Amino acid sequence: LPSHYTLPSGDSIPSVALGVWQASKGEVGNAVKTALSAGYRHIDGAWIYRNEEEVGQAIKASSIPREELWLTSKLWNNFHAPEDIETALDQSLSMLGTDYLDLYLIHWPVAFKKEGNNVIDEDLTADPYPTWQKLEELVDKGKIRNIGISNFNIRRIQNLTANKLKYQPAVNQVELNFWNPQPELLKWSKENGLLLEAYSPLGSDKQVGKSLSVPEVKDIACKLGITPAQVIISWSVQRGTIVLPKSVTPSRIVENLEVFKIPQEDFEMLEQAAASHPPQRVVNPSSGWKLPFDVFDGQ
Ligand code: A2P
Repeated sequence: LPSHYTLPSGDSIPSVALGVWQASKGEVGNAVKTALSAGYRHIDGAWIYRNEEEVGQAIKASSIPREELWLTSKLWNNFHAPEDIETALDQSLSMLGTDYLDLYLIHWPVAFKKEGNNVIDEDLTADPYPTWQKLEELVDKGKIRNIGISNFNIRRIQNLTANKLKYQPAVNQVELNFWNPQPELLKWSKENGLLLEAYSPLGSDKQVGKSLSVPEVKDIACKLGITPAQVIISWSVQRGTIVLPKSVTPSRIVENLEVFKIPQEDFEMLEQAAASHPPQRVVNPSSGWKLPFDVFDGQ
């Protein structure tokens, strides 16, 4: 299975990252240290996870040269206005202790007013192009090497890419797991040369137990002599996506980096099993944010 993928910029991105969403302060630093010594070189974070400073300190403590690491962060919804973006980026850079990001994503296709708590900026939500143009400028300025999107469905991607972009989105980071495998989005993304990144690959806190006890997953694990988590993470890479498992448990962090090729017939069985039930999303903030629309258009 691929250890890396090549992005449109030519940069090579490691296929497995440590995800640090829901890795709390006081825990995340040790998780990052364990991951880096286990061989991870890709950390997937975001400004809103409120742990970038501790992530940065752990990176610094590792003494791994910056150019060997892949650091992703995400622009929060309050900062989509072009004049606010560079300040938000600079904050993340300073907390992470670096002068550039490998990848910066628009976290959600939803813009809030800067000061307003969850007050929608309707213009920038309807049209993210001004936000994107500013991100392109920051690539040219050398502060970001690649830009991408997160939580965009096909309609919203096309809404952005209908513009004459200087840089195409390098990736789209979305929820992909056994309960929400999104085969149509995956197929469309492959046809359109857009790499997906799988967040909550194990189903997050809420559904990890359920994911690891899926009979097909357990059977394949048993057959290959690997763990159920390794089956699911390997399946994600074999589907052609980047995968971002989160853990703060040292043994699991080590376990999650090891991916294995699943025999084709087992892979197809898993793909079918995942698609055989109605999709169940772990993450959908539309009601929590009181959006007057469903951010995923019911998909
Ligand atoms: P913890 O962080 O306490 O180790 P996801 O990556 O889908 O967001 O899932 C994260 C959840 O899965 C967390 O609850 C994490 O627990 C748990 N988890 C991560 N890796 C493993 C593993 N290899 N085996 C069992 N549970 C895991």
